[in-house]
Amino acid sequence: MKILVFVIFLLTSFCKFAFSDEHSDEQQIIEMGDIEYGQYLGAECASCHQQTGASEGIPAINGMDAEVFVALMLAYRSKEMENPVMQMIAGRLDDEQIGSLALYFSQLEPPK
Ligand code: HEC
Repeated sequence: MKILVFVIFLLTSFCKFAFSDEHSDEQQIIEMGDIEYGQYLGAECASCHQQTGASEGIPAINGMDAEVFVALMLAYRSKEMENPVMQMIAGRLDDEQIGSLALYFSQLEPPK
């Protein structure tokens, strides 16, 4: 069920992106970001999201595409995605902070 909701969400955000001349919401949020601020904010994420990749069912976020990252964080913030931990974390972040985290994590080396 969660997967289905997520796939629908990705498809709708893709359509918005494909059929509009303007920047997508995700791109606008990424443009607000600052890598160093993202590094600072990202320190708390590393306690669960290990640098080396997936562990104990927690997905790796290093090297994730910035737009996908923003889309996921917005989905947790709006509670479209159901994980209560990530809903709480995303709920505390504003757009600028999410954009900064997206920039920071997208330029890290993805896990092998
Ligand atoms: C207390 C542990 C914990 C912390 C701290 C944490 N996360 Fe998560 N995160 C999770 C778990 C568990 C999931 C998987 C949730 C699910 O299945 O929907 C997740 C999922 C994600 C995802 C989706 C990954 C994917 O491939 O689906 C992103 C993006 C993410 N977290 C970003 C962050 C960011 C950014 C921070 C820091 C601001 C952070 N997380 C802090 C536990 C944590």
